[in-house]
Amino acid sequence: MASSTTPSAVAWTKTQIPRHLSSSLVDLSSISFNKSKSSSRKTKIHPTLHSPSVLHFPNQPVTPKEDSSETVNPKTHRYQPQWNFLQRAAATALDIAEAALVSHERRRPFPKTTDPRVQITGNFSPVQEQKVRGQLPVNGTIPESIEGIYVRNGANPLLEPVSGHHFFDGDGMIHALKIEKGSASYACRFTETERLKQERVHGLPLFPKSIGELHGHSGIARLLLFYARGLCGLLDHTKGTGVANASLVYFNDRLLALSEDDLPYQVRITPCGDLETVGRYNFNGQLKHSTMIAHPKIDPVSKELFALSYDFVQKPYLKYFRFFPDGEKSPDIDIPLPVPTMMHDFAITENFVVIPDQQVVFKLQEMLRGGSPVIYDKKKKSRFGILNKSATDANDMIWVESPDAFFFHFWNAWEEPESDEVVVIGSCMTPPDSIFNEHDESLQSVLSEIRLNLKTGKSTRRPIIQEPSNHVNLEVGMVNRNLLGRQTSYAYLAIAEPWPKISGFAKVDLFTGEVKKYMYGDKRYGGEPFFLPTEQNCEAEDDGYILAFVHDEKTWKSELHIVNAKNLQFEASVKLPSRVPYGFHGTFIDSRGLVNQA
Ligand SMILES: [Fe+2]
Repeated sequence: MASSTTPSAVAWTKTQIPRHLSSSLVDLSSISFNKSKSSSRKTKIHPTLHSPSVLHFPNQPVTPKEDSSETVNPKTHRYQPQWNFLQRAAATALDIAEAALVSHERRRPFPKTTDPRVQITGNFSPVQEQKVRGQLPVNGTIPESIEGIYVRNGANPLLEPVSGHHFFDGDGMIHALKIEKGSASYACRFTETERLKQERVHGLPLFPKSIGELHGHSGIARLLLFYARGLCGLLDHTKGTGVANASLVYFNDRLLALSEDDLPYQVRITPCGDLETVGRYNFNGQLKHSTMIAHPKIDPVSKELFALSYDFVQKPYLKYFRFFPDGEKSPDIDIPLPVPTMMHDFAITENFVVIPDQQVVFKLQEMLRGGSPVIYDKKKKSRFGILNKSATDANDMIWVESPDAFFFHFWNAWEEPESDEVVVIGSCMTPPDSIFNEHDESLQSVLSEIRLNLKTGKSTRRPIIQEPSNHVNLEVGMVNRNLLGRQTSYAYLAIAEPWPKISGFAKVDLFTGEVKKYMYGDKRYGGEPFFLPTEQNCEAEDDGYILAFVHDEKTWKSELHIVNAKNLQFEASVKLPSRVPYGFHGTFIDSRGLVNQA
């Protein structure tokens, strides 16, 4: 993701070698990394589980030393499997097979989309956990209305990759900044996923990385190894394989960490502002699927949570459901899709869910041909499905085609009954699969309005910023979520320039296309701008503040910026005790919400 020449301060837990493997690893010298110079060990054997760092960071400037006085060492454990003889033999054989596989993979250069040296360097690289540090230095005055905790999710791989790795593959870590009476504290913690817990105990990245590793024949081999380890009782994949790194939602008095490859994980915020993982959360047994989308939507009026679950192996490929405010789930509705479709986000209006069925699809057979299972299918028609939120089946779903449009995220949608239209606001991304597959063409993310006519079945699409010379890549952000599903005038979106870094955020007037910018400054970059309304029912839509973590690549320090959303004036910044890597999505829980936590 970042330039390979940026400084790095990586907080890896080193991949550990099983003792019982020592001799077999030596036997692999001829097929492995026998030219590596980075190990001080006498043996020159560096197969996968014993390999030197994939990340060499050549020709890098000196990395400023991070303040680690309050760091919490990862809970690494000595590798002490309680296995019987047969399991030990199986483990050895499978480790040797994986060593050969990694050796094979590393003979060729990785594409940028799976090269760890590109994906997790600079401030995309991981940090260690931090326990709560209070009384943080504040520049300016934190507005009185901000009382609660801002939490932001991100990818933070615990173990150093031994092969391909995409930034999205990292273990989920939540950064929490609590504000109480103008004073701020900070902590960050891994979300203790079942995957993380097992890999930590073993000291090995045993679970396949869904984007970084599951390509072509190597990806098939990795899946076979993974399931073979499961069959032999060397790991347990029945409790989920997800990383819980993408987003956060606070619903029914629970903070949920989400990634679309698994169920949510419940995380509890302690009274002092620390984070504790409660566990994988299936809504008290109601959610029978193994996955839930990372961007469920809370209706600000009904307080219901709307969600999807997709399956890329078997039909039905998509299910829609909702939860009532008390946590009770509605029955699933099967959404008929001809092929399994990658679906990171969707939208709601006052009465409808708006479901994108786009051209980035799963084709597992592509792996047999050596390719990625996530591909851009130009022949497929891109369309949106509009379904009443309270429907009990998909019979009345209206599909409206929207040619050649791919949206990774949607910022809002609303109904305009006078024209029989549903208006959808999102960022149209080209090339559509550029997050997953390498392209020469540079990525563009164009803030766009789509109008879906429910009567005619036709659609129109226009860029909201009309003047081409004013085009800027806008990704990750939001509208005032108290108005989600209703017409909004403004969106607050990250300026993703130079991609994938975020140099500031824009307040965009969705009707005039006027753009006002707040830039972080020279060599300063951030992530999602979070809009926090001053009150639940503000008179003005933009009455609130933008919260954003900002990192200075010159000083290697991170801050939280608080900016007035009306006029984009700086209000305050909080100096953070340690680096906050660039990450994904966040939420805010006010002080009343914290008291009511389940
Ligand atoms: Fe997202």
